[in-house]
Amino acid sequence: MNNNNLPLGQIAVVDDTTANLHLLSNLLEGAGYDIRLFPRGKLALEGIVYSLPDLILLDIQMPEMNGYEVCEKLKVDELTRNIPVIFISALNETFDKVKAFQVGGVDYISKPFQAEEVLARVATHLQLYQMKKKLQETNIIQAQQLTLQNHQLLELNQALEKANRELQNNYEKLQYAQLQLVQTEKMATIGNLVAGVAHEINNPVGFISGNISVAQEYLQDLLSALALYQQKCPLDLEFAEELEDLDLDFIAEDFPKLIASMQSGCDRIASISTSLRTFSRTDTDKKTEFNLHEGLESTILILKYRLKANEERPAINIIKNYGHLPEIKCYPGQLNQVFMNILSNAIDALDESNEGKTYEEIEKVPNCITIDTKLSENKKNILVSITDNGMGMPEEVKARIFEQGFTTKEVGKGTGLGMAIARQIIVEKHGGAIACHSELGKGTEFVISLPLS
Ligand SMILES: Nc1ncnc2c1ncn2[C@@H]1O[C@H](COP(=O)(O)OP(=O)(O)OP(=O)(O)O)[C@@H](O)[C@H]1O
Ligand SMILES: [Mg+2]
Repeated sequence: MNNNNLPLGQIAVVDDTTANLHLLSNLLEGAGYDIRLFPRGKLALEGIVYSLPDLILLDIQMPEMNGYEVCEKLKVDELTRNIPVIFISALNETFDKVKAFQVGGVDYISKPFQAEEVLARVATHLQLYQMKKKLQETNIIQAQQLTLQNHQLLELNQALEKANRELQNNYEKLQYAQLQLVQTEKMATIGNLVAGVAHEINNPVGFISGNISVAQEYLQDLLSALALYQQKCPLDLEFAEELEDLDLDFIAEDFPKLIASMQSGCDRIASISTSLRTFSRTDTDKKTEFNLHEGLESTILILKYRLKANEERPAINIIKNYGHLPEIKCYPGQLNQVFMNILSNAIDALDESNEGKTYEEIEKVPNCITIDTKLSENKKNILVSITDNGMGMPEEVKARIFEQGFTTKEVGKGTGLGMAIARQIIVEKHGGAIACHSELGKGTEFVISLPLS
C-alpha cells in the first residue's frame, strides 16, 4: 500500500532486451509491484488482453512490432485503451517524443534507468490511473444511483398522477352525488307537497261527494212534500204566484242533472288526487308492482301547467298510444322521475322551437308529444317511446346528452342532470336501456326498454 492507501498494481514490462527486463523486474518487484514480463510486442498484446495490468512499460525498439505499433493497437482496443503506457527509450536510440504521445503514451523513461525516477514516474501514473478508475467507478455508481432515483421519481410521479386522477374522479363523483341529492330532494319536496295537497283535498271532496246523493234525496222529499201540500191544502194567492215563478217542474227536472255534474266534478277531483298520490309515491328498498300508464298519466297531470295554452302558443298536444301492458316490478317514484325529466325536456325543446314564430304559425304545425307504449316483439320488455316535434339536436349534442352536467340550457335553467339520472335509473336500477333518436329541426324520440322480469 502506498501513502494514499491505493493498492500497488500490476505492471507489464515489454522489452526485447532480457537484461532490461530483469533490471526493471527487480526494481519494481522490490518496490512491491506485481510484474509480468514480455519479450515481444505480439506476445505482450495477447498477454495483456488475457489479464489486464494497471500500467505498461513499453520499449520502443523491438523486432517484429515496435513500441509505437504495440501502443497504437492497445489504444484501439476498448479493453486496454485506458491502461497508461510509459515508453522506454535508450539515449542512443532515435526517440520521437511527439509520436510517443500521439500514439497514446502518457510518459517516457530513458535508459540507462535511474531507479528513483522510474519508481516515481511509475507510482505517479499508477496513482493517476487508479484515481481515474475510481472516479469512473464512482461516476458509474452515481449514474446508476441517478437512474435509480430517476426511476423512483418517475414512479412517484406516476403514483402522484394516479392519486390526482382518483381525487379528480372522487371530486366528480361527489359533485354528481351532490347534484343528484339536490334533484332527489327537489323531487321529494314536490312529492311531499303534492301528496300533502292530495291528502288535504281528499277530505272535503269526500264530504261533498258523500252529501250530494243525500242532498238529492232531501230535495226529492221536499218536492214531493210540496206537491202533496199543494194538493191537500188550498193555497193563498200570493204563495201560489211565488210557486208559479219558481217553476218547480223545471227544478225537479234540472236538479238531478246538476247533482250528476257535481258528482262527476267530485269524481274528477278524486281521480286527480289519486294521480297526485301516484306521482308522489316514495320508493321503498323493494321493487313494487306498478302500472306504467298510471305513472305517465300522473306525470302529465303534474306538468299540465306547462302543457296548457298560453299567450305565445296553443296547448301542447299529448297523443297517447297506450298498448296493453302488464304491471311491472319497479321503483315507481324513480320511473316517474324519468318520465318527468324526458317530458320536461320535450316541453323545453318545443318552447325553444317556437321562438320567433307567431301564434298562428305554431297553430298550423301544432306542438306535439306522442307517447307510445307496447310490449317488445319477444314479449320480454316493455317499450315506452316519448317523441316530440321540437327542434331536435345536432350530432355533437346527441352524443353527450347522458353525460353528467351536460346542458345546452342557460345557467339557472338546466343543470344537465336530467338525462344522466334517467339513464342511471333505467340502466343501473332497472336493468333496462334508454336510447335517443333525434333529427335537427324535426324532433326527438326517447325509447325506454324495461325488462318484465
Ligand atoms: N327532447 C329534446 N330535444 C332537444 N334537445 C334535448 C332533448 N332532451 C335533451 N336534450 C338536450 O340534452 C341536454 C341534456 O338534457 P338533460 O335533461 O340531461 O339536462 P338539462 O335539461 O339541460 O338540465 P336539467 O334536466 O338538469 O334541468 C339538454 O340541455 C338538451 O340540449
Ligand atoms: Mg332536462
